[in-house]
Amino acid sequence: MKVLDLIEKLNLENNLTKEEIVYLLTHMTEEEKAILFDYSLQTKRKYYGDTVYMRGLIEFTNYCMRNCKYCGIRAKQFDANRYRLTKDEILKCCDQGYWLGYRTFVLQGGEDPYYTDELLVDIISSIKKRWQDVAVTISIGERTMESYQAIKNAGADRYLLRHETANDDLYEAIHEDMSLSSRKECLNNLKAIGFQVGAGFMVGIPGQTPEILAEDLLFLKSLNPHMVGIGPFIPHAKTPLGGYKGGTVEDTLVMLALTRLMLPKVLLPSTTALGTLDNKGREKALKVGANVVMPNLSPTDVREKYELYQDKICTGDEAAHCRQCIEGRINSVGFHVDMGRGDYDSWR
Ligand code: 5AD
Ligand code: FES
Repeated sequence: MKVLDLIEKLNLENNLTKEEIVYLLTHMTEEEKAILFDYSLQTKRKYYGDTVYMRGLIEFTNYCMRNCKYCGIRAKQFDANRYRLTKDEILKCCDQGYWLGYRTFVLQGGEDPYYTDELLVDIISSIKKRWQDVAVTISIGERTMESYQAIKNAGADRYLLRHETANDDLYEAIHEDMSLSSRKECLNNLKAIGFQVGAGFMVGIPGQTPEILAEDLLFLKSLNPHMVGIGPFIPHAKTPLGGYKGGTVEDTLVMLALTRLMLPKVLLPSTTALGTLDNKGREKALKVGANVVMPNLSPTDVREKYELYQDKICTGDEAAHCRQCIEGRINSVGFHVDMGRGDYDSWR
């Protein structure tokens, strides 16, 4: 096998076997990586040109009943300072976001049963009623089919649920009382209901191998989601995985590029976790094929509390500041902001 042949094949066929992906991940030189990045950027340009979509992120609750071993807002992280936003507070964030030009709001939170279907339906339908030209994305973990359906009926357009890792054993090792099969069932349910669906994984999880990363890519290929969120694992001292090494920017960029070539039209965010590891991390992701950024719209007084990992960027910054900052960063690498809804098929 030759690395360059594999890169060519991936570029032409948008697929590789597990063995081929593992070979790439373990043999690629810096020069070959540059060629991969070139192809992934060309592919992004082919469908999206120089456009980067903006989504306003509202972290509305950091209460969580789960105990993911990597996550700083896990239930057993007793030092976490918990908060919930009211419907009015969420609407206020949207109001500011709309004024700043955002046309997608991403409502993200821990798995917090306080937000019943009834409450969520009220919040979502109020947003959709007040602003008819916005898309609403929900990211609140695993719920029942009925709950997902209620959220969809209320007007939500998209749902983000990272699969975190596509390997059963690793999935069980980094979670408590959770299984990859129920995760996959949720993703299938979300698709069946008609959401634009986002999956994704972390890079550099302790115990993750090139084989497992290949499984992540092949899982994504078979799921064929509309969006894929990929970021480096960043250890949080107050979690069970706090003592391990985190993922690297370089490895994350490779996985972003491979994802762009496996799923050419996918919406691929340049994640905050990358910007946290490296001041230029988000720009680097845009240069290898990412085409979405999700600046924070949460009220500044709660930002620090949504601490999935430590040293998260932007916790002190007003929404307007992030809006400008990100646009400058996007322009600095030759791209331009598109404030539209940015639906999956808007490239057509
Ligand atoms: N490092 C990096 N990413 C994390 N996430 C949660 N905890 C961490 C961490 N310590 C990611 C998960 C989750 C998303 C919202 O944040 O992938 O799905
Ligand atoms: Fe928030 Fe740069 S994106 S300060």
